[in-house]
Amino acid sequence: MKQETFAHRRVLITGGLGFIGSNLAERLVGLGAKVVVVDSLVPEYGGNLFNVVGLEDKVRINISDVRDEHSLRYLIQGQDYLFNLAGQTSHLDSMQDPYTDLEINCRAQLSILEACRKYNPGVKIVFASTRQIYGRPEYLPVDEKHLLRPVDVNGINKMAGEWYHILYNNVHGIPSCALRMTNTYGPRMRVKDARQTFLGLWIRLLVEGKPFEVWDGSQLRDFTYVDDAVDALLLAAASETSNGQVFNLGGERIISVKDLAELLVQVNGRGDYVIRSFPSDRKRIDIGDYYADFSSIRSVLGWQPKIPLPEGLAATLSFYRDNLEHYL
Ligand SMILES: NC(=O)c1ccc[n+]([C@@H]2O[C@H](COP(=O)([O-])OP(=O)(O)OC[C@H]3O[C@@H](n4cnc5c(N)ncnc54)[C@H](O)[C@@H]3O)[C@@H](O)[C@H]2O)c1
Repeated sequence: MKQETFAHRRVLITGGLGFIGSNLAERLVGLGAKVVVVDSLVPEYGGNLFNVVGLEDKVRINISDVRDEHSLRYLIQGQDYLFNLAGQTSHLDSMQDPYTDLEINCRAQLSILEACRKYNPGVKIVFASTRQIYGRPEYLPVDEKHLLRPVDVNGINKMAGEWYHILYNNVHGIPSCALRMTNTYGPRMRVKDARQTFLGLWIRLLVEGKPFEVWDGSQLRDFTYVDDAVDALLLAAASETSNGQVFNLGGERIISVKDLAELLVQVNGRGDYVIRSFPSDRKRIDIGDYYADFSSIRSVLGWQPKIPLPEGLAATLSFYRDNLEHYL
C-alpha cells in the first residue's frame, strides 16, 4: 500500500468513536484523509468522545445512528471509502435483547448497502466481521472455509451483515470485502465491563489494583493488537483484489486464557486473579478453543500481525494508567 493512497480521499467510518474505529480515524488523519465518523454513542457500546481527543479539528463527527436511513443516505454521498464498523458487540446482550442486535448488525447493514447502491455505488467498503460467526471450531486453526455455525444471535446477525456486503459486491458491483476479526485489544478499548471483551475488564481491574476473574482459563485464543487490525483494514481498502473476499485476522501467538492472565500480571509488574468456573449463561455461548489461520490475508494482501503480545499489553496498560477515568 502506498503512503499516499488515502491522502485527500474522503472516508466515512461508521462506529468511528468506538475502539477500532477511532484508532483507524487517527491513522487515516495522519495519512491525509478527510475523515467523517458517524456514531450513535449509545452508552452500552464502546463509543467514547475521549477516543478522538486531539482529533476534533481534524475529523468531522456526526452523532447519528446507522439505523437512520436518512442520515446514512446523506453521509455516504461523495465518500471514496466506507469502513463499516458500527456494531452491537456483546454476545450476551444479543441473547437478552436479540431484536436490537438484529436491527444494528443485520437490518442496518442492509440499509447502509442500499444507500451505497442508490447514492454512491463506487464507494469501497470494508466490513468489520467477526470470528464469532464460525461458532465452536471443528478444527484448528480455523480457516475461511470452515463451516459457519454461530452459537449466538450476534454471530448470526454479523454473518448476515457480512454476506450482504459480499452479495452487494457480487451482484451490484459495489466493491466490498470483510475482515473476520478475532479478539482485538489496545488503547481505547472498552474497559468499563466485559461487553467488548473480558480482557478490557481485566485491564481495568488490574489498573485499579483489584483482582480479576479468569473463567476456566484453558481456552486457547489469539489476540490482534489494534494497530495491526488498522493495518489490515487499510490494506483491504487499498486493494482491488480484496473485493468480494472475506479474510480472517489472527494473532502473533496462540495462548490460553490462563497464560494470558499470567502474562498480563507479569507485564503490569503486580496483580492478582482468581480462577473460577464459567457462569452458565456464558458457558452456553462459549466457543471453546479458537485461533485463526490467517494465511489467506497474508498471501493476498501481505498482512500479518507485527506487535508482540507483551508489547501490546504494555502499551494498553500504560494508556489506561494515564486515562482510566475517561473510560469508567
Ligand atoms: N474488538 C474486537 O475484538 C472485535 C472482534 C471482532 C469483530 N469486531 C467488530 O469490529 C467492529 C468495531 O468493534 P469495536 O471493538 O471497535 O467495538 P466498539 O463498541 O468500540 O465500536 C463500535 C461502535 O459502533 C457504535 N455503534 C453501535 N451501534 C451503532 C448504531 N446503531 N449507529 C451508530 N453507531 C453505532 C458504537 O457506539 C461504538 O462506538 C464491530 O462491528 C465489531 O463487531 C470487533
